[in-house]
Amino acid sequence: MLGINADTKAALESVEPKLTVALPQITEDFYTHMQRFSEAERVFSRMPSLGPLKTRQMSHWQSLLSGDLDETYAARALAIGEAHFNRGVAPYLYIAGYNFFQCELISLVAASYSESDRISAALTAITRVVSLDVDLSISVYTRAAWRHKTDEVVQL
Ligand code: HEM
Repeated sequence: MLGINADTKAALESVEPKLTVALPQITEDFYTHMQRFSEAERVFSRMPSLGPLKTRQMSHWQSLLSGDLDETYAARALAIGEAHFNRGVAPYLYIAGYNFFQCELISLVAASYSESDRISAALTAITRVVSLDVDLSISVYTRAAWRHKTDEVVQL
């Protein structure tokens, strides 16, 4: 449904080196941005240190942008969603986080390429995989509720 296929993987493979090199700075900027808001700062201040979070955050983006979206990736995305749920990261904060990363990646792609075909392929690929990650991580929050509503859902 998200349109993730071999073209998505090929588009990601071609853009990934440019994105990977920028990830450390984007990740730093993400924490600086979120810490401006007391609701997010409250969550971060309960952690002994942000260093390991930054590293894990970065490696998660790397695996997402590699396009190797296998079962190991999916299990990890669900576990990450659960960790955020358990830490009380409200969905709007989580979505704001994805918004931050996705906008940074969009700007980077737009600044890196001049051919519109290439820009379009890279941006659609990024949008597709970010949507997948948002779905896996945030649907953890609501899964228990919607299980009672329907028996037609795929049980992830
Ligand atoms: C762009 C969206 C986000 C992604 C992809 C992401 C990614 C991650 C990853 C990969 C981990 C490590 C999980 C583990 O290894 O178990 C983590 C942990 C954590 N993140 Fe995020 N994060 C995002 C947004 C946020 C936001 C907005 C907050 C808070 C305002 C937040 C707070 C935390 C906390 C508190 C942990 C520690 C969880 C634990 O160890 O129990 N994250 N995040």
